[in-house]
Amino acid sequence: MTSLRLEGVGFVYPDGTRALTDVDLAIEPGERVAIVGQNGSGKSTLVRHLNGLLRPTEGRVLHDGEDVAGRRVSALAARVGIVFQNPDRQIFAGKVRDEVAFGPRILGRSAGEAQQAGLDALTAVGLAESIDANPYDLGYSRRKLLALASVLAMGTPVLVLDEPTTGQDARGIARVQQVIADVAATGRTVIAISHDMRFVAETFGRVVAMGAGRVLLDGDPAKVFAEPTWPILASTYLEPTYAARVGARLALGPTPREQDVVDALVRQGAAIDPERTILPD
Ligand SMILES: Nc1ncnc2c1ncn2[C@@H]1O[C@H](COP(=O)(O)OP(=O)(O)O)[C@@H](O)[C@H]1O
Ligand SMILES: [Mg+2]
Repeated sequence: MTSLRLEGVGFVYPDGTRALTDVDLAIEPGERVAIVGQNGSGKSTLVRHLNGLLRPTEGRVLHDGEDVAGRRVSALAARVGIVFQNPDRQIFAGKVRDEVAFGPRILGRSAGEAQQAGLDALTAVGLAESIDANPYDLGYSRRKLLALASVLAMGTPVLVLDEPTTGQDARGIARVQQVIADVAATGRTVIAISHDMRFVAETFGRVVAMGAGRVLLDGDPAKVFAEPTWPILASTYLEPTYAARVGARLALGPTPREQDVVDALVRQGAAIDPERTILPD
């Protein structure tokens, strides 16, 4: 397992664009961390520092307390697997089965082990029946899941997902949520960038909000989406979840349960039929 630490990290792209300023962040094994913030706030730049794809122009990045400055990307990638936002910049094989076995092979697994790891990852994302397909015969949402499977198959101690729910329907989102829960349950770390605040609030134990290359908020979802932070969220173009807004109006806090909302409305005189079920059994 790998603990991650950024100390005073700043980053300026070669063209002079400053993307990160004074970022301090420590992430322990087994944490589920969402990174949120408006476009251009530095989320992707930040996660690329975790596996050495980018090197800080100020400050340090540490794995298990050791500065990674001298380590090669190939060594760091064995610890931190990143699923990029655009699957088509990641997928390269002509067969799904080769795509998912490639990562484990690179990490030194035998052909048999790599095949099994690939199949397990495909099963986890619901693509086992597509194992003989050509990746480009799959639709966009399935290519996203394939890109996730190909990194998941590597079994890295840290899994990073850049916008994993883009293009997914409710079932695809549930798949992604299950993968995240399963990975975290084995003590590994999951970090995801997302614009979907409901997915974030329901899936992650910690939320880091970024704006203009800095960390603006860092805490559990109840804290980050609580009413006092709304002006800060708005400054990086984020809205609190629908549940948090309803909870605030009914004085139930940022993570109200459906039953508490109903009870509060009934107390205020709403005519709600207690027998009426919303979802089919
Ligand atoms: N390759 C690059 N060269 C120069 N500037 C870049 C590059 N990639 C990103 N940037 C800039 O760095 C800042 C942060 O971008 P990014 O990390 O992609 O943000 P986010 O992922 O939050 O949308 C933005 O101002 C963006 O325009
Ligand atoms: Mg990005």
